[in-house]
Amino acid sequence: MTPLDYEFLRKFLKERSGLDLAADKQYLVESRLVPVARKAGLPGIAELVQKMKGPGAEALTTDVVEAMTTNETFFFRDKIPFEHLRDTILPALTQLRAGRRSLRIWSAACSTGQEPYSIAMCLKEKAAALAGWRIEIVATDLSQEVLEKSRAGIYSQFEVQRGLPIQLLVKYFNQIGELWQLNAKIRGMVHHRQFNLLQDFSNLGKFDVIFCRNVLIYFDQETKINIFERMAKTIEPDGMLVLGAAETVVGITDAFRPFPDKRGLYQPNLTRGGASLPLKVVAAR
Ligand SMILES: C[S@@+](CC[C@H](N)C(=O)[O-])C[C@H]1O[C@@H](n2cnc3c(N)ncnc32)[C@H](O)[C@@H]1O
Repeated sequence: MTPLDYEFLRKFLKERSGLDLAADKQYLVESRLVPVARKAGLPGIAELVQKMKGPGAEALTTDVVEAMTTNETFFFRDKIPFEHLRDTILPALTQLRAGRRSLRIWSAACSTGQEPYSIAMCLKEKAAALAGWRIEIVATDLSQEVLEKSRAGIYSQFEVQRGLPIQLLVKYFNQIGELWQLNAKIRGMVHHRQFNLLQDFSNLGKFDVIFCRNVLIYFDQETKINIFERMAKTIEPDGMLVLGAAETVVGITDAFRPFPDKRGLYQPNLTRGGASLPLKVVAAR
C-alpha cells in the first residue's frame, strides 16, 4: 500500500467512524481490506481506494468501515460491570425511579448483542423488584452486520461457553440444533438501532444507564471528549455510565466523575455547574 493510499484510508476512517489509526497500522488495514477489495472484484488496495474516491461508492465505503471495526465481545464481559448493575445501579435506580417505574438503558456499541442481552438477563433475574416496570434496553452499533446477528439472538456453542453461566443458558435460551437462541422475552427487551457515536444523540431520548464499553479505546482524545460531553446531556442527572476495563474519564473530561469505590462506574458531574450531588444515589449504595 502506498503512503498516500494509507493516509487517505486513515483520514476516511477517522471521519466516518472515529477510528484513530496509528501511522504504523498498514498491516492491519491490508489484512482487513484486501478481502473487501476481492469481494468487490478489485485486485488490491490501490484499486479499492480509487473506487472509493469515485461516484456511487456508498456500499463499498460502508463495507470498508465495517471491515475495520473490531467486534470482539462475549456474555458478561469483565463480570464487574454486571455486578455493579446488579448490586449498585439497580438497587439505587429502583428507589430513585419508584414513582415513574421505568428504566431506559443504552448499550452504545453493542456488537453482536452479548452485552445488551447480558443486561437483559440481569434485569430478568431481578424480576420481582421490577414487576410492572417499563424497561427498555436500546442496543446500537455502527455496523449493520453485527446488529443483524444481535437482533436474531442466535449464538454458537463456543459463544455461549464464553462468560455465560450454565444456569442462565438453561433458563433463557432455546437450543436449535447446534445453536442457541435467546428466548423471545429476553429478545423483546432489547430494541436495536443502527447508530454512529459520531452522530447527534439528541433524538435518542434520555437514559438512566449507559454502557459504552470497549469502543472509546479506538478513538482519539478529542473524539472521546466530544462523546462524553454529549453523553452527559443524554443521561439523567442521577444516571450511571459504565465504561470498559481499559477506559476512564479521568484526565479526559470532568463531564462525569468516578462513582466512589466502583471501578468502571461513573456519574454525571453535577458539581461542574455548581449543583449538588444526587444524594439519594450515594445513600442507596
Ligand atoms: C469491541 S466491540 C465492543 C462490544 C461490547 N460493548 C463489549 O464491550 O463487549 C466495539 C463495537 O463498537 C462498534 N463501533 C465502532 N465504531 C463505532 C462508532 N463510531 N459508533 C458506534 N459503534 C461503533 C463496532 O462496530 C463494534 O461492534
